[in-house]
This record gives sequence, C-alpha cells and structure tokens, in this order.
Amino acid sequence: MKHFKLAVIAGDGIGTEVMDEGIKVLKYYLEKTGYATVSFDYFPWGCEYYHKTGEMMPENGLEILKDYDSILLGAVGYPGVPDHISLRDLLLKIRQGFDQAVNLRPIKLLNGAPCPLKFKTPEMIDFVVIRENVEGEYAGNGYFENRGTDAEVAYQTGVFTRKNTDRIMRYAFDLAQKSEKGKKLTSVTKSNALNYSMVFWDERFKAIAADYPGVKTENNHVDAISMYFIQRPESFDVVVASNLFGDIITDLGAALQGGLGFAASANLNIEGTYPSMFEPVHGSAPEIAGKQVANPMAMIWTVKLLLDHLLPAYKHDSIVDAIEKTLVDAKTLTPDLGGTAKTAAVGDAICQALTF
Ligand code: NAD
Ligand code: IPM
Ligand code: MN
Repeated sequence: MKHFKLAVIAGDGIGTEVMDEGIKVLKYYLEKTGYATVSFDYFPWGCEYYHKTGEMMPENGLEILKDYDSILLGAVGYPGVPDHISLRDLLLKIRQGFDQAVNLRPIKLLNGAPCPLKFKTPEMIDFVVIRENVEGEYAGNGYFENRGTDAEVAYQTGVFTRKNTDRIMRYAFDLAQKSEKGKKLTSVTKSNALNYSMVFWDERFKAIAADYPGVKTENNHVDAISMYFIQRPESFDVVVASNLFGDIITDLGAALQGGLGFAASANLNIEGTYPSMFEPVHGSAPEIAGKQVANPMAMIWTVKLLLDHLLPAYKHDSIVDAIEKTLVDAKTLTPDLGGTAKTAAVGDAICQALTF
C-alpha cells in the first residue's frame, strides 16, 4: 500500500480549526478505503511563531519541506504582523520557492449551499479557475522613490515570462480539452489598459490556442468577466487568469458557491520536482477565530483536491458528495450557513455522510 508523508502548516486564526477537520476526514477516508496510509508532521509556523522568533518560518523552511509528498496549509495572517510580511514570508515563499505554478480553484455550487443568485441552480455553477501562481504582480519586484516626501512614488512591477505564461495556458488548454462540459477556455485579460503584460498575455493565448483546435476560446476583460460570473456563470468551463486577476475573481467565484466556506484550492508543482500545497482560499478570519464557528467545508474540499493529486487512479468525489449531503440535511451547519453547529461537529457529520 502507498504511504504518504504530509507536512501540515495549520497557520493562524481559523486555519488551525479547519485543519483539524480536514485531517479528521482525510484519516477516516483513507482508513475506510484502504487506498493509502498517511503520516503527518506538524510545523507551528505562522504569526505566533513570528512573535517568538522574528520569522514566519525557519530560514531553511523550504529545505525542511522539500521531501514531503505534499503540504497542507490552513491560513496565514493575523493582526499584529503586517500582512505583506506574514504572507510573503510563508505562503508566497512556498508557492514561489516550490514553483507551484498552477493554482487550481473549482467553483461549484452544491445543493443546499446559499447561492446569492436567485435564478441560478447548482447545474449552472460548475467551472474551474486556473490561476497563474508564481509571478505577475506577485513577483515581489518594486521600489519606492523619494520615500517619505511629497514626491513619493511606489512602483510594483508585474513580471510575465513566456515560460510561465505558456505553462499556465497549456495546463488550462489541456484541462479544457479533457473537459466533459464545453471544451471551452476563457482567458481573463485587461489588454485595453495594460499595454505590456496583458498584450503579451493575449498574444501567448492566441499562439497556444493554435495547438488546441478542439477547444473553444473566449477573451474577457477582468471587469467584464466579474459581471459575467454573476450574469451567466453557466457559460464558463475553464477560466485562465493571471495571479492578481485570478485572486480577485476566485473570491467572487467563492461567493457564487455560497461563500469562502466552500472555496478550495490546489497549488500545483506540475513537474513533480517539489511538493504541491493544498489550502482553502479563505484567510485566517481573525474576527471569528478561536470560537469553533468557522466552516471547515473549504478545507475538507481541499483534502479532496489533495487526494486527486496523490491518488489520481481513484475518484474522490464522495468527499464532495458528503459535504453536499450535510448541507441538504441542514442539521449540522456553521453560522455562515445559518446554523449553530461547531466546526468539529461539521467534520464529524461529513465523516458520517461519507459512503464507500
Ligand atoms: P478572510 O478569508 O480571512 O475572511 C473574509 C470573510 O470571510 C470574513 O468575514 C470571514 O469571517 C469569512 N470567512 C472566511 N473563511 C471562513 C470560513 N471558513 N467560515 C466562515 N467564515 C469565513 O479574509 P480577510 O479578512 O481579508 O483576511 C484575514 C487575514 O487572512 C489577513 O491577514 C489576510 O492577509 C489573510 N489571508 C490569508 C489567506 C491564506 O492564508 N491563504 C487567504 C486570504 C487572506
Ligand atoms: C489567496 C490569498 C493570497 C493571495 C494572499 C493571502 C497573499 O488571498 O490565496 O487567495 O493573494 O494569493
Ligand atoms: Mn485571495
């Protein structure tokens, strides 16, 4: 039987609470299916660690993580540590350091989830966003001029290499080609205003599309697609976006699914040189942390993405089915879904709802 060694960074705020439930479901699922055994090493990295040590993770953190099969991350960031430090020195360092070039984020409305759109049904909201994950505006390049004076200027330089742009687009085209839905790929652009990065993005999209004659293509500006997500979510199949645009539209996508409590993500190193990392889209939600009221469904859905990655020979849809059953039963729901259940009770209910 296969054995997987996982690194766990539960992180800050509700990260630790939802992580417990993700691991609970993962252990139960693997015990019942017998697909694999798994062991966990926990790393207490995050904002508390920063307060004690002055760093978000040890200097050799990537070296420590590099031989794990995958990484599970809860959430990072907490008041008291500036967000650009906590996030850049841990989460973004791992994404970029391990060349996790693809950020895969499913947008799928389940039965029983509170979609804010009156006329949309679960059949109509089911697509995936492929977000470039290592460069763009997140590359971390920039500088200040005349700091502290009236002539102050801040520059943040986006970086779009052909290597990474082509890689994310090829991944998205491959996915669209395999899709049973529409074999359609939508590219998110803003080339009407961004005359370098997005003009280049459009050029590469067009060039790579030539290799995929079976995939229908569409270009939407990021402002327009924000409206189309609301008006016609049913028209999307696979959506490919730059790092920043992908970040923004996936919170909008989360809203279509019923909130951040449902949004899962996989940060994939597609070459397999380094471990991939799995984390919910949401943050540490400091205002609800420590109360056992966070919805763990996004973390549990994220475990399904981890299983898809580690054990691709099997289908793991039963995990999402169990989340759906829990929603439809509506007995064990956290306050974001109108219930009074505790985070741990939702994890228990999802284990109970699993069928093998
Ligand atoms: P957030 O995702 O933490 O919270 C946004 C809103 O959604 C809040 O109202 C919160 O209560 C709610 N929410 C989020 N997850 C929930 C869940 N599982 N169940 C119920 N409600 C949930 O975003 P924010 O408030 O912008 O950021 C808070 C901190 O988290 C900041 O430090 C930010 O930088 C960080 N952050 C980290 C990650 C990450 O680690 N991947 C992602 C986003 C934000
Ligand atoms: C996400 C988050 C991160 C991002 C932040 C916390 C750096 O918002 O994973 O969506 O912008 O990528
Ligand atoms: Mn985000």
